[in-house]
Amino acid sequence: MEILDIIIIMLAGLWLFLPAMLPNSAAVVFGGGTPIDLGKSWRGKRILGDGKTWRGFFGGGFAGVLLGVILMGIAYIFDKGALWGYIDWWTGLGIVFCLSFGSLLGDMLGSFVKRRIGIERGKKAPILDQYDFLIGAFLLTVLFNHSWVYATYIEGWHILALIFLLIITLLLHRVMNIIGYKTGLKDVPW
Ligand code: CTP
Ligand code: MG
Repeated sequence: MEILDIIIIMLAGLWLFLPAMLPNSAAVVFGGGTPIDLGKSWRGKRILGDGKTWRGFFGGGFAGVLLGVILMGIAYIFDKGALWGYIDWWTGLGIVFCLSFGSLLGDMLGSFVKRRIGIERGKKAPILDQYDFLIGAFLLTVLFNHSWVYATYIEGWHILALIFLLIITLLLHRVMNIIGYKTGLKDVPW
C-alpha cells in the first residue's frame, strides 16, 4: 500500500460522504415554518423543538440527494462512465438518499436527546451536535447497503477514511457555524 493509495482512500471517503454533509447546512437556508413536532411537548419539554422544521428536512434532504447525483455525474463525465465508489446509478442513488436523509434523521435524534436531557433549542451539546448527523447517515446507509459501508469506511486501510471523516467533521462544523453566524443565518456562532 503506497501513501498515495491511502490518500485516495481518504479523499474518496470524503467525496462519497458529501451528500451527508450538505443537508444540515442546507436546512439552515431552507428551514422555517412548521416544526416537525408541530409544537408538541412530551413530559413537559418539546419533542424536537423549533429548530427542526419540515421545510428544513425536505429542503436539506433533496439538496443532499441532488449533490450526490451531481457527484456521480462528475465522475461519469470525467472518468469514462465510472462512478467513483457509488457502484452503479441505482445503488448510488440509494446510498446518496440514505446518506442525506439519514444525516437529517440523526440530527433530529440529536435534538430529541437534547430536549430529553433539558438542553434548549440552539444551546450547545458537544459531541452530539457534531456527530449526530454522521451517526444517522451511517446507520441508515448500513441498513441499505452494509457491504458498501464496510468496504468504504471499515475494511483494512479504509478505516483511515472514517477517521479522516471524524476529524474533518469537527473542523467543518466549527467553520460552517462561524459562516452561518457571520452571514446572519444563525444567531449563535456554534
Ligand atoms: N433546521 C430546520 N430543519 C431541520 C434542521 C435544521 O429548519 N430539520 C434549521 C433551523 O432553522 C435550525 C438551524 O437549521 O435552527 C440549525 O440547525 P441545528 O443547529 O441542528 O438546530 P438548533 O436550532 O441548534 O436546534 P437544536 O438545539 O435542536 O439542535
Ligand atoms: Mg445547533
